[in-house]
Amino acid sequence: MQPVQPVGVFDSGVGGLTVAREITRQLPAETIIYYGDTAHVPYGSRTVDELIGFADAIVGFLIAQGAKAIVDACNTTSAVALPYLQKKYHVPIVGVIEPGVIEALRATRNGRIGVIATEATIASNAHRAALLARSREVQVFTRACPKLVPMVEAGLVSGPEVEAAVAEYVKPMVEAGIDTLILGCTHYPFLAPVIQEVAGPGVTLIDPAAATVRELKEVLAAGGGLRGAHCSQAHSFFVSGDAQAFSNVGMQLVGWPELKSTRKLKLD
Ligand code: DGL
Repeated sequence: MQPVQPVGVFDSGVGGLTVAREITRQLPAETIIYYGDTAHVPYGSRTVDELIGFADAIVGFLIAQGAKAIVDACNTTSAVALPYLQKKYHVPIVGVIEPGVIEALRATRNGRIGVIATEATIASNAHRAALLARSREVQVFTRACPKLVPMVEAGLVSGPEVEAAVAEYVKPMVEAGIDTLILGCTHYPFLAPVIQEVAGPGVTLIDPAAATVRELKEVLAAGGGLRGAHCSQAHSFFVSGDAQAFSNVGMQLVGWPELKSTRKLKLD
């Protein structure tokens, strides 16, 4: 890999912007090429075969665009497609499940860890398996939250409708005594203020983005691909669905002017 090459990032929609945002914080010299598969969002209700097919096409595209490393900024595809992708492609691919799990195990004091995620992620058991593989001491409480991704995709991140949905999903876990809650979908950090309000001050929210980008930094450094100087080019954004809708919601959530140049590019 060469430092000048971009970092590829993908998700079903705007959720991966929470990870891209963290890349701009920790690695401000890097240029990002982002793919949001908005024609197929939400991924949470897709089958494993569909998810592997979508992720495969996107990774192939990002590599063809010159990506030196790729962040699978989607828990759902990280849960079901990552081993397949890592085996197929030689470009390093970093997922979001393990980094979040490691952070959660560091944060918990009582060993009761909650995970909120999409239906497909929860059905995969990826977080539970990764947590229990590292610690036999923890108790894991999981909850699929199908209402949340469509809200974030529509730019709805606060207000009564969001509060009611978050309360429905998170309150039972708080009542079960969790002290740590993994935001197991990259869309959810945009809802963090509401989730923290519902969970209360005794629960630590884990956004896997920070630990994921630390891992990315290690991967780039190990491959000699870390970009040193602050001379990055503009980030570029591609979607499979409505470019204007993605750009509008992305601008609302992270406010990067480059989002206005989002291009529609279907891969199938
Ligand atoms: N943001 C993704 C995740 O982390 C996918 C959400 C979805 O499309 O259902 O799982």
